[in-house]
Amino acid sequence: MTIDHEDQLEALKRIGAIVADVLQAMGHALEPGMTTLELDAISRRLLEAQDARSAPELCYDFPGATCISVNEEVAHGIPGSRVIRAGDLVNIDVSAEKDGVFADTGASFAVPPVTRHDDRLMAYGRKALWQGIKAVRSGQPLSAIGRNIERFADKAGYTLIRNLASHGVGHALHEEPGTIPTWWEPRERRRIGEGMVFTIEPFLSTGAEWARESADGWTLLGTAGTRTVQYEHTMVATSRGAVVVTLPTS
Ligand code: CO
Ligand code: CO
Repeated sequence: MTIDHEDQLEALKRIGAIVADVLQAMGHALEPGMTTLELDAISRRLLEAQDARSAPELCYDFPGATCISVNEEVAHGIPGSRVIRAGDLVNIDVSAEKDGVFADTGASFAVPPVTRHDDRLMAYGRKALWQGIKAVRSGQPLSAIGRNIERFADKAGYTLIRNLASHGVGHALHEEPGTIPTWWEPRERRRIGEGMVFTIEPFLSTGAEWARESADGWTLLGTAGTRTVQYEHTMVATSRGAVVVTLPTS
């Protein structure tokens, strides 16, 4: 989506705030002993109350309102009977539609007790996202986002998963301008358009560089023995930088 009317921006901000608040509520509710299906039910209730619809369900017939990925699962985990345990690293990805406009956000949470290693990985994961956001300005190269993130990840001693990209969003969950690398990609020659709406969502890992499909046809797995986090925001590119629309309202 490219924003060219104020009412489009207002609609994007509305759904952006909704997905951000749902993500925050799920993060707060997370506790050992609950199943990922119980966690997903929170999003279902909150989205319905806001007259919003789950984007994965709407666009892909995904079997869940949100994607919940635990430990070795890095993305697109199906909410189900898996019980959340102390020390788990849980990624929650919330995307939804209201009034024909889509927004997408995600975050990883650790269930206490949190190891020093997980704590650092999460802190750097959040910072990696903001390193990417800092590179957003209309007219600038799109590749600057991935260059910033990769430089940061390298320095911190982490890897990036290279087959899970960021993407255009707005009229649909995934749309123009297609995929946007969150790693350095010299073949990426496009520039950031004024009003362009897209996500940035680096997957920062202690060693994985590739997510592979699992037998259920949805869940993507990392490399054995590694830990991976993802943090995601939806934003609009302007000449003064990114306007992030998926910040929680409280
Ligand atoms: Co997402
Ligand atoms: Co996304």
